[in-house]
Amino acid sequence: MRKVSPLKGMRGSCTVPGDKSISHRAALLGALSREGMDISGYAPGEDCGRTLACLEQLGCRVLREGSRVHVSRGEGIRESREVLYAGNSGTSARLLCGLLAGVPGFFGIIAGDASLSTRPMDRVVAPLRSAGARIDGREGGNRLPLSIRGASLVGGTFTLPVASAQVKTALLLAGLSSQGSVTVTEPSPSRDHTERMLGSLGVPLVREENKITLFPYPELPGAKWEIPGDFSSAAFWIVGAALVRDSEVLLENVGLNPTRTGLLDVLERMGLSLQVENLRESGGEPLGNLRIRSAFLEGTRVEASEVPRMVDELPVLAVAATQAKGKTEIRGARELRYKECDRIRGMAEGLAALGADIEEREDGWIIAGPTPLHGGSVKTLGDHRIAMALSIAAAIARGPVELDDPACVNISYPSFFDSLEDFRKGASEA
Ligand code: S3P
Repeated sequence: MRKVSPLKGMRGSCTVPGDKSISHRAALLGALSREGMDISGYAPGEDCGRTLACLEQLGCRVLREGSRVHVSRGEGIRESREVLYAGNSGTSARLLCGLLAGVPGFFGIIAGDASLSTRPMDRVVAPLRSAGARIDGREGGNRLPLSIRGASLVGGTFTLPVASAQVKTALLLAGLSSQGSVTVTEPSPSRDHTERMLGSLGVPLVREENKITLFPYPELPGAKWEIPGDFSSAAFWIVGAALVRDSEVLLENVGLNPTRTGLLDVLERMGLSLQVENLRESGGEPLGNLRIRSAFLEGTRVEASEVPRMVDELPVLAVAATQAKGKTEIRGARELRYKECDRIRGMAEGLAALGADIEEREDGWIIAGPTPLHGGSVKTLGDHRIAMALSIAAAIARGPVELDDPACVNISYPSFFDSLEDFRKGASEA
């Protein structure tokens, strides 16, 4: 249990942890490189730790010193006597399926925690099978544990029913060792870190807006990656500083890949006061510093086509919507029901417990504001993003809010509560 008291202002600066998506990818690409990947700013959370632990079990060489990580293929991927444990991490489980499906002679089992074991895997298993993969698991291969027997993959053309960077990346990783090319088309573009990284490594690929074709390239060169700050972690402070009166925060080195920053577009049309400073590029990814000040927000409508660019930020956007004037409608976000918990339900119940005017819809929420939030008790449902979004709700509530299970923030942002307290202290000293 953790009690979060309201904030009277948020002030100061913060460097958020390294990007989780890019960290997973940099480590996994190391498994295909003799020279290996030299990674700085590796994400500190448990999820990215799971990817490293699985790679180590698979015989890769993994050296870690804090946020500096080096991953190389070692003697090549070999079978692990133990189950590969992805914990809470959907990205680890799904991307490993793609990486391992084409390793000749390989056999392995991927398992996860209670939450991950309920999440759908057929989205990655079905297309991989049609490329020749031999994967099986509970419910016909839709749930962990999954067994993978390496096979010779043929590649193919895949049209994804929902935009998913995890599925796209699994197919691209499998494509590296396939006999033929892999083409993936999405209904709207999901995060494109994999494409950027593979492109910069010299992998032959052709990119169009929603479509990517990759040609086989089984051995990757070594590279250095400086991982930018995770926009999805910065999102909590962006919304926090916008909502808590008398706030001004500076977020440094935040990744600003346009396939990730949909939240900024939506918040700017709601009235956010945002300054982007020192915009630059590193390792093929744009990044910059963000200065946010308190603002009065107005309601808006988020369309299905906007969801992939802000899928992980929708819980905290729901918090912003409770303070925006008028109605905010967030639709086309059914995917949120398949995340670490059912995030549509989780946020509807958490915010309603604090007095918000929020209606749950099958594919999102309708939220009316501004509604003052009161203190109370909320459930994080073991989901890191629900815990952090509800902590931002607590920051603007009129009384303290008790989170039943706050430790889940360790999945992506172990120092989240320290930063929250630093912003509180910054305001009281100003
Ligand atoms: C991720 C993709 C997204 C996102 C997840 C990380 C990734 O999932 O929600 O937190 O690193 O590729 P989907 O691909 O399922 O949308």
